[in-house]
Amino acid sequence: MAAPLARVEPVDPRIVVLISGSGTNLQALLDRGDALGGEIVLVASDRPGAGGLERAEAAGIKTAVVAPADFADRQAWCAALEDAVDGAAPDLVVLAGFMRILPASFVARWPVLNVHPSLLPAFPGAHAVEEALAWGAKLTGCTVHLVDEEVDHGPIVAQEAVPILPGDTPDVLHERIKAVEHRLLPDCVTLFCRGALHVDGRHVRIDK
Ligand code: GRF
Repeated sequence: MAAPLARVEPVDPRIVVLISGSGTNLQALLDRGDALGGEIVLVASDRPGAGGLERAEAAGIKTAVVAPADFADRQAWCAALEDAVDGAAPDLVVLAGFMRILPASFVARWPVLNVHPSLLPAFPGAHAVEEALAWGAKLTGCTVHLVDEEVDHGPIVAQEAVPILPGDTPDVLHERIKAVEHRLLPDCVTLFCRGALHVDGRHVRIDK
């Protein structure tokens, strides 16, 4: 089960963003400025060299690296990540290209939004763009969803379709998808910050 949203309707929500990579989705969140409706208080990465860390630093946001290689096992890494996030006292955690599976205790503790580069439930997992191309699909897209304890599985907040065009490579298609993600993810974060998301089982109702 994803963490309940009902207990989280603060005036100025605190947001922790988790990244693993270049952080273009993080940048899209940063570029919203005050219109995002919440404050990004920490950007944490599982990879020391993640480009998104520089974006956060440039924006004056606190960063943390919690790399699995620095811990004895997954349990210790999970505990350290949870501690780092807890220290920022978030109302919302956003996965903006975070490529690791969170423990059930984490997703039960905070509401977590994820952006995924396919129209879920099609093509879950880490190779969604390549798999949509290999399948011969004509249409793929992106999904913003609440995270539960299963991979790319939680209740869907928003989706948008993206065409697959003749001659697409994974990189070209991924860039087309990311252009949509950069609008959809901040829109969904803003809806959360306004208290406009209501979850009923698998269904997310959005206030107008
Ligand atoms: C995005 O396509 C997102 O859907 C996926 O990872 C990618 C992250 O890209 N989960 P970036 O680091 O935000 O550029």
